[in-house]
Amino acid sequence: MTSPKANPAAAETPTSANVETIPALWYHDADMYEAEREKIFFGEWLIFCHEALLPEPGSYVAYTVAGRPVMVIRGKDGELRAFHNVCRHRASMVLREGHGKADVLRCIYHGWVYDSEGCLKKAPNFGGDEKSLCDRTSLFPIHLRMLGPLVFICMAENAPDFEASLGDLPAALAGTDLSGYKFYDMATHPIACNWKTYIENYMEGYHIPAIHPGLNRDIDFATYRVVPGDRIARHETGLRADRADEAVNNGLWVWVWPNCALNIYKNGMNLELVIPTGPETTELRYCYLFTDVSESMEAENRRTIDVSIEVTREDIELCEIVQKNLRGGIYDTGELSPRHENGVVAFHDMVRSAHKKARL
Ligand code: FES
Ligand SMILES: [Fe+2]
Repeated sequence: MTSPKANPAAAETPTSANVETIPALWYHDADMYEAEREKIFFGEWLIFCHEALLPEPGSYVAYTVAGRPVMVIRGKDGELRAFHNVCRHRASMVLREGHGKADVLRCIYHGWVYDSEGCLKKAPNFGGDEKSLCDRTSLFPIHLRMLGPLVFICMAENAPDFEASLGDLPAALAGTDLSGYKFYDMATHPIACNWKTYIENYMEGYHIPAIHPGLNRDIDFATYRVVPGDRIARHETGLRADRADEAVNNGLWVWVWPNCALNIYKNGMNLELVIPTGPETTELRYCYLFTDVSESMEAENRRTIDVSIEVTREDIELCEIVQKNLRGGIYDTGELSPRHENGVVAFHDMVRSAHKKARL
């Protein structure tokens, strides 16, 4: 979080009065979910990981994005490439999910081997014309672009313009060097809620006094505000003077459409991905990176992660409660706070716009 110097006047201005939430059906309906997978998760540029996970030739990151296994690998030529993690033989994942180093891309099922450009090189014991098979077989590619150390992918055949898709992100990160971080740890949290339920919770600080007592001790809630921009939203708040040294949340929080948050701490960052796994299930993927991962910083780095996990647990409990009621049939829409929920309004506008495109 930063001190609330940027644009306070804009944040004081209510975005609009009486803005209603999107309907409850959108949080559990299978057709709505399919439309969001198609238009948002398979159609847009998404932040996939931080480059620190891919330090050398053979480094890879593989996980499933809205039901589609994806891998990013660094080739012998140093280039990063993204592929669907789908073997062209009989559809196994080529690599098991996770991150690490693979000397070759050897499918875990029957051992077909692909090179880092996705071309099939060997089909052991195939018994037919292996050379011809290799010549006509390669992995399905995915678009990949970088913004500093942030790796973006787009699964659409014709990707939208990358620079335009970044919106205000480059401006929001100006003056923040994300490239000096080293990978420290990963954490995943399954949550029984729609992905939007969790994003919305991220998009407002309104709930902090009620459910995050630890975080609330550190921040000056009176100055807390969310400043939406083009395809991003930035949280801003002051820290309480007597907690400024203790608080780990002394950085910058930026949400990036559709499903990523960059939480910058004093000594590092958490790249937070909110990955839908079904209409009412989501996986949070946290990647913690710090400037110093040496033994001497172990206790401090762990403390940052412990604070993050405590806040996440508090959020997860509430999101799961909300999800039950979104599908329960009593609630349909509610009214958003002009003072505190302008970020939710901005997110809903983007979701509405994606559904409008889906219907065209
Ligand atoms: S499915 Fe990959 S080698 Fe058979
Ligand atoms: Fe929260």
